[in-house]
Amino acid sequence: MHGQMPVGVFDSGLGGLSVLSEIHLRLPQESLIYVADSAYVPYGEKTAAQIVERSILVSEFLLDRGVKALVVACNTATAAAIQTLRERWPGLIVVGMEPAVKPAAQQSQCGKIGVLATTGTLRSARFAALLERYSEKVQVYTQPCPGLVERIEAGELASPATRELLAGYVHPLLAAGCDCLILGCTHYPFIKPLLRELVGDGIAIIDTGAAVARRLHCLLDEAGLLAAGPAATLELHTTGDMAAMQQALPALWPGSACVQELQL
Ligand code: DGL
Repeated sequence: MHGQMPVGVFDSGLGGLSVLSEIHLRLPQESLIYVADSAYVPYGEKTAAQIVERSILVSEFLLDRGVKALVVACNTATAAAIQTLRERWPGLIVVGMEPAVKPAAQQSQCGKIGVLATTGTLRSARFAALLERYSEKVQVYTQPCPGLVERIEAGELASPATRELLAGYVHPLLAAGCDCLILGCTHYPFIKPLLRELVGDGIAIIDTGAAVARRLHCLLDEAGLLAAGPAATLELHTTGDMAAMQQALPALWPGSACVQELQL
């Protein structure tokens, strides 16, 4: 292992690009390899066993490419598979993510917070354990959002159909009196402007991407594995339609990048 090796990042699709941006912003000297497992999106409606299987396959590809750390840029895959990945590759830095209940609990004035996430994340044992830890401090209202990931994958970040779907999901959380909404899926930061429009300025919207980048920074630093720079490279792979990802990219990634097709 050495610092010049790349960091591997994956998600069920394009959502993890919201995390990749934060990693790139914080650690611009790091070379990154991203896999969008878009042939199998959405993970949120799959069984835990299916998600574990896909996560192992994608991780094996990234490890074959010589990554020094793995970022599971997906709440659903973290909930279903991170334990398996850590057991399979002990010693490897594996960073996962979970809905930001802790920061929301600290930030909420009224003690009511809402979590927007996939069905898979919300029904997981990992999420139940997270809720258990904060159940005395705050009331947590959860809202699964089936169909939203598909709209975002299609590049519909502000279409009337996306707006209508999102409005339907947010309404019960606002009606319950939540003053903090957690984006518990890495696809959702891409529709934050639409969500802001729907909820107005008085509601906090909390995302986890920057915290994941901080955690990765800290773990690489501790292991003496930070890249010295400056020759960082970026590789994007998709198991889905290459042309569709290339077309969606300008709205989701700040620079130019070439997408490669991956069969897994
Ligand atoms: N972006 C993923 C997450 O953070 C999963 C979305 C999906 O494929 O359902 O949960």
